[in-house]
Amino acid sequence: MPLLDVLRRLGPQPTLQDWPGLINAYRRWLPVSKATPVITLREGATPLIPAPVISERIGRGVKVLLKYDGLNPTGSFKDRGMTMAISKAKEAGSEAVICASTGNTSAAAAAYARRGGMRAFVLIPDGYVAQGKLAQALLYGAEVLAVQGNFDRALAIVRDVADRYPVTLVNSLNPYRLQGQKTAAFEVVDALGEAPDWLCIPVGNAGNISAYWMGFNEYKAAGHSKVLPRMMGFQAAGAAPLVLGHTVDNPDTIATAIRIGNPVNKENALKARNESKGDFMAVTDAEIIEAYKLLGSGEGVFCEPASAASVAGLLKRREEVPQGATVVCVLTGNGLKDPSTAIEHNDSHFHTGLDPDTATVARVMGF
Ligand code: F0G
Repeated sequence: MPLLDVLRRLGPQPTLQDWPGLINAYRRWLPVSKATPVITLREGATPLIPAPVISERIGRGVKVLLKYDGLNPTGSFKDRGMTMAISKAKEAGSEAVICASTGNTSAAAAAYARRGGMRAFVLIPDGYVAQGKLAQALLYGAEVLAVQGNFDRALAIVRDVADRYPVTLVNSLNPYRLQGQKTAAFEVVDALGEAPDWLCIPVGNAGNISAYWMGFNEYKAAGHSKVLPRMMGFQAAGAAPLVLGHTVDNPDTIATAIRIGNPVNKENALKARNESKGDFMAVTDAEIIEAYKLLGSGEGVFCEPASAASVAGLLKRREEVPQGATVVCVLTGNGLKDPSTAIEHNDSHFHTGLDPDTATVARVMGF
């Protein structure tokens, strides 16, 4: 179990507080050297949470686990890629970074860049970034540029700017991003002692599915696992270029994190699907919200809508899951990122304007 090995190397009685962040934990798997300044917020080591309610829905002894990457320091899996991208940018002497983002990348880029003493420029689609993510980018001290176009357009601009000016691109075109993100696959195998049978994952720009596939393959080649999972990628129906087989000019979904019509990591994602005998599939906004609510009220796990696409997809394909299989659904971002969607879409009772007395409260409680 490399996770424990890492901690043991730090002293005889390691505690969870000793977790050094993923670069130091998985150093030998990553393109870093002694010369690399490690810019870390102790990201990684996120829990793999059993999901008994969802497992029950699938039935036939299938075991579903949630890789809750919303518990990273800025609340999403982007921290895994960003600790690498920013450390390498710092090593190269960069003073500023830039990214286009549906929100999470911008939050992570801002936090890590500022921690590394660099400027962060983030381009976001005006009006289509969840409130928590915008709040983060601002609070972390980024320079936020909201453009009147979608993510794909913002990314095209950012690529152009990074080509012409002295700023480092930290979108997943930056190869260090996927290097950092592959560590999530390592953690899954470390926790299970083997790779899962299926990995269900939301797909937007298609970097994360590519990173997981790289991680599973590297671990298998090193003898840490015997099998590879089927990679099941789920896109929102209104933003499903990989399912449709062509770019989508005007992507549209409630899951703004994956509101992307032209994924830059398309080729790597297709490779992951083909090599793993996996599949891509679209899930509707209604299915995403259904899974989002089930995760919250059934499992006690609050993720953002895009993350729930992995569970929505699993529920849609439930008939095909082999008996007794282990399935990991990746929950890419924390639900607190997008409070307005939660407030709008839930089945709870919210009693407002009550008289402040015991009798009223007891009556509303049904006593
Ligand atoms: N889930 C969340 C919460 C995301 O923020 C993203 C991507 C994805 C899934 C999809 O991952 O792009 O690697 O396929 N968010 C990017 C951003 C685009 O700007 O934060 P992917």
